[in-house]
Amino acid sequence: MKQLSQTQLKPEYSNWVSKWIPITGGIATVLLAAGSVTVFSLTKQTTWLGLVLIVLAVIACVVTLYMFIARGILSYHGGGVQGKVLDGVLSQLEALGWDGKGKLLDIGCGSGAMSIKAAKKFPDVVVTGMDYWGAGWDYSKTLCESNAKIEGVAERITFQKGDAAKLDFSDGTFDAAISNFVFHEVMSQPDKFALVREALRVVKPGGYFVFEDIFFAKSHYGDIHKFVKALEPYTAEVHFLDMRRPDYAPVLLNTPLILGQMGIICGRK
Ligand SMILES: C[S@@+](CC[C@H](N)C(=O)[O-])C[C@H]1O[C@@H](n2cnc3c(N)ncnc32)[C@H](O)[C@@H]1O
Repeated sequence: MKQLSQTQLKPEYSNWVSKWIPITGGIATVLLAAGSVTVFSLTKQTTWLGLVLIVLAVIACVVTLYMFIARGILSYHGGGVQGKVLDGVLSQLEALGWDGKGKLLDIGCGSGAMSIKAAKKFPDVVVTGMDYWGAGWDYSKTLCESNAKIEGVAERITFQKGDAAKLDFSDGTFDAAISNFVFHEVMSQPDKFALVREALRVVKPGGYFVFEDIFFAKSHYGDIHKFVKALEPYTAEVHFLDMRRPDYAPVLLNTPLILGQMGIICGRK
């Protein structure tokens, strides 16, 4: 009985690599391998179809294994890298000189990990975590609220559903805004410059922002240095930080699939 209540008191922060990725990859590997064996046994000779299926099975197997290992390294119960990435975002707020007082918005808060970390790091802050909580993720408002309660910061955090492309807040509501690995996921706004401007809209003039994403992904952001330069007229101060190859993460994670395209846009509005 004692063991059960201890288990219930653990927060549950979801992994960026959903459990369905290795599961789906494993199923694909087995089906492709079975397909190639079937083709070989029916034709009794080496055919192009058999070869293509076996090559695809090997690729699916390698990617599945990679994602499985990456999931373990990222995990809060395993390698803990996800938590360190989020700590990196929050430490930039301090580096910019924010005093940690006032209202903070976490855009795309997922399972609430960074909102909760922020509330623990800055004892005077009041945090709002917002997310779309779509079907593609194992995250929910209830999970965030439960995590905040378990971590003892529920009275300083509220979570609400919304769309990062059209935030339900008036201009200049927040003293600071943060976001991690969200903007590239926002399907409702393919124009990522407009999306960052929307995030800046709800920050007070002189307020702080730290946004981390796969900013080196040209398909979303084009030339990131030009992207950041174009933000200058809308900000008092804006910087770009190359966060690839962080020293807290094994080299294995430095691929475009996981941490290999990470960057931070931060500054003051
Ligand atoms: C990779 S997860 C990151 C979650 C969290 N920021 C973290 O670092 O743990 C991406 C998040 O973006 C959220 N998201 C996707 N589209 C969104 C939208 N239009 N508005 C708000 N959140 C969105 C997803 O629901 C998901 O929680």
